[in-house]
Amino acid sequence: MPTVTFSSPKMRRDLTVYAPAGDRKSILGVAREHGVAIDCECQKGECGSCTVEVIHIGNKPPMAVHLTEKEKLTLLTSGKLARQEFEELELLDLAPRYRLACQYLLLDEDIVVKF
Ligand code: FES
Repeated sequence: MPTVTFSSPKMRRDLTVYAPAGDRKSILGVAREHGVAIDCECQKGECGSCTVEVIHIGNKPPMAVHLTEKEKLTLLTSGKLARQEFEELELLDLAPRYRLACQYLLLDEDIVVKF
């Protein structure tokens, strides 16, 4: 079962939770379900307030590598993702380091979410 570990200076300690694959929940949804307070304003992928760093752990290749158009635009305009970096990642089918917690739908993979 995939796990999500939330890590932040705002928390007393890291929290690891199970996130069943197929639930189609966002990082933000799982965080809220477990009382983890990730900043969020719009929940539509437009404001960038929920930007988190996602680190893939385990030995499976990252799965949730594709960004929605809103997520791409917001990360590019906020400066969390440079256009050249984005184009290289897309070409190699790799995941960017920063993602929007409200847009990233969890798949069958173990991740650490830093915020
Ligand atoms: Fe605004 Fe996620 S809450 S982009």
